[in-house]
Amino acid sequence: MLTMYEFLHRLPKMEMHLHLEGSIRPGTAADLAHQNNVILPPHDRVEDLYHYRDLKEFLAIYTAVSDSVIGADDYRRITYEMLESCAANNARYVEFFFSPQVHLVHGVSFDTMIDGITTGMDDAKVDFGLDSRIIPGVNRELGPEAGEELLDMILARKEERLIGIGLDFLEAPFPPEPYAALFARARKAGLKVTAHAGESGPAAYIAGSIDTLGVARIDHGYHVVTDEALMRRCRDDGILFTCCPSTAAVTSPWKSLDAEHPIRRMADFGLKLTINSDDPPMFSTDLGEEYRKAHDLLGFSPDMLRRSILDGIDCSWLDDDEKRTLSADWTREIDALIAEIQPTPALLT
Ligand code: ADE
Ligand code: ZN
Repeated sequence: MLTMYEFLHRLPKMEMHLHLEGSIRPGTAADLAHQNNVILPPHDRVEDLYHYRDLKEFLAIYTAVSDSVIGADDYRRITYEMLESCAANNARYVEFFFSPQVHLVHGVSFDTMIDGITTGMDDAKVDFGLDSRIIPGVNRELGPEAGEELLDMILARKEERLIGIGLDFLEAPFPPEPYAALFARARKAGLKVTAHAGESGPAAYIAGSIDTLGVARIDHGYHVVTDEALMRRCRDDGILFTCCPSTAAVTSPWKSLDAEHPIRRMADFGLKLTINSDDPPMFSTDLGEEYRKAHDLLGFSPDMLRRSILDGIDCSWLDDDEKRTLSADWTREIDALIAEIQPTPALLT
């Protein structure tokens, strides 16, 4: 018999919305800043920096901490530590973002970043058996031309694990439409595409990302609940939403994680969504904790979590063969775990 917490821990998990720089542990941030002579904003303990009231405040700290990642070995270390935490929470496959443009302005080359990141991924594969893929995020605040330069670097590197591109940083006043040509070129070159939308920005940014960027995946997307026609369309088209409870409570207008929260309403409406951790140490969380919040606060049942994990496999960027195998194996594994959940006392009477 399994308690609910053992069940949640043992669930095999996909992690499809995780930022490399948002995964920098406080101790690592302190080490790298010291080693590379980078001055972090004033603080007593680095943990004290990891508090924010909204997306804008968060992104300022995210950028300041990212500035201390310079050499290939720094990238290897933060990648390895991020994947170590994923493995500790039973993530078995990870598609993670990183923010090349934050580092390019300091003269770090794209190749240095990718050399370090892929070494960290290789080490994590050996030590934890964990497979992962990289999604460079285009910073929507910097404009499409800078994004095009980044795309040139991505394509020149010819690294298969650079699997797609994303669009992130502050939403309003940076709508998705100006990135249409860039995303079309990325898709034509064989890259997958996704976009942050409807986190702090309006539902129109979700529709705009689907219509003009050609994405079938929306990162966050909570504002979809403000537009019922769009909700129906996303359900009919099988759009996947990669949701992150802890960050949603800070960076979106819905601050209370309960059964009325958009993430729960999206699931009840029949939208496909996954549970993810976004920037875990920067929000004092990890993937396991996000599953606990989904269950305890949002009221996701074991069956709803099962559905979201299988939808995640289906909408992931794995090959079709890999998806079929994973889906069959995990269905068996999750069903066996559900059958082992200890009945709660209320159900025994
Ligand atoms: N970069 C890291 N986390 C982010 C988030 N939640 N929204 C937009 N950009 C981000
Ligand atoms: Zn994100």
